[in-house]
Amino acid sequence: MTPTESQAPNPEQPRAVTAVAPILEARHLRKLFPVHGWNPFARQRAVHAVEDTSLALTAGKAVALVGESGSGKTTVARMLARLYAPTSGEILYAGQPVRSGRAALRAYRRNVQMVFQDPFSSLNPTHDVRYHLTRPLRIHGHATSDAEATTQALALLNRVSLTPAEQFLRKFPHQLSGGQRQRVAIARALAAQPRVLLADEPVSMLDVSIRLDILNLLLRLKDEDRLAVLYITHDIASARYFADETLVMYAGQTVEGGPSDAVIEQPKHPYTQLLIDAAPDPDRTGALKPLSARGEIPSLIAPPTGCRFHPRCPHAMPVCRERFPGRTDLGGGRWTNCFLYGEGEPATGGS
Ligand SMILES: Nc1ncnc2c1ncn2[C@@H]1O[C@H](COP(=O)(O)OP(=O)(O)OP(=O)(O)O)[C@@H](O)[C@H]1O
Ligand code: SF4
Ligand SMILES: [Mg+2]
Repeated sequence: MTPTESQAPNPEQPRAVTAVAPILEARHLRKLFPVHGWNPFARQRAVHAVEDTSLALTAGKAVALVGESGSGKTTVARMLARLYAPTSGEILYAGQPVRSGRAALRAYRRNVQMVFQDPFSSLNPTHDVRYHLTRPLRIHGHATSDAEATTQALALLNRVSLTPAEQFLRKFPHQLSGGQRQRVAIARALAAQPRVLLADEPVSMLDVSIRLDILNLLLRLKDEDRLAVLYITHDIASARYFADETLVMYAGQTVEGGPSDAVIEQPKHPYTQLLIDAAPDPDRTGALKPLSARGEIPSLIAPPTGCRFHPRCPHAMPVCRERFPGRTDLGGGRWTNCFLYGEGEPATGGS
């Protein structure tokens, strides 16, 4: 592969959601962040950041988690990375509940790595590239000597197309462009030799001209290492390009999911339809409808009752204010939580 990635997904190959056993699975995750007010006698309030979210990641497949700012995407990723403890719900790795304790956490972190949105703050400005790559190699036991660590660091730089690798090894973050820093951050995640990569908006802070290169790099690494990838984005068009499966999240609740092409070509949930209407599309004949034209995402301290989308939904019915719809199976790996498609399976927890 050349330094400018040019390998796009093959449009001839239909992508489907498969029933292979997941490597990482989240079941009914919920996260409340307590709000500490000035009055110790007042009722404890909380940000209801994530309610009843389930997802599964399998080897060699990418799942996109899409939603507006504040919808809870990063909170889900941080729970999966075990940077936040879920308020309730369960995380299974290779079919087993994740264990607590230092050794278990280290083993988990070796297998489940995260790439953050901001390549400027995710690297330590006082250390060179060699340090960023050799440290995880040593910590996770993949290199036992300096020479071995350097050889592997050079190989990692080649894998992320930072060549000549010898020249990049001694550079500091401030000597790199945004795209080069994100490649170093990706190489650092790979140094652990993970099976799962959680990529939280990995291109949104990069120059538009290099976003596709970084997405194609991640796709190539996913295929080469059979990584299970969670790709977080607010850009539904990039979800279709990148991911086999797309989940749509609104105000802390997942509202629709299924194979990316189907979800984006024929969105079922009114929020997904709104997101698609607001996405730039060169083939569109009518005007772009900005998301803000249909109201803002609600406060998650006192979220709307029932379906949290009801204040913005053109199809809202009285029942939508009363309770959150369960998940309705639409066939073909697709599902949605919306009373337009029935009551669905009863939801667990949540408001
Ligand atoms: N550590 C925290 N303490 C309190 N509230 C938090 C914390 N982290 C996130 N939140 C709140 O939880 C909600 C979900 O935030 P989150 O960062 O997960 O959203 P997001 O979908 O990743 O948004 P963005 O697209 O802007 O990154 C927001 O209301 C946010 O303010
Ligand atoms: S459940 Fe009701 S308010 Fe929510 S998206 Fe469906 S129709 Fe709209
Ligand atoms: Mg985020």
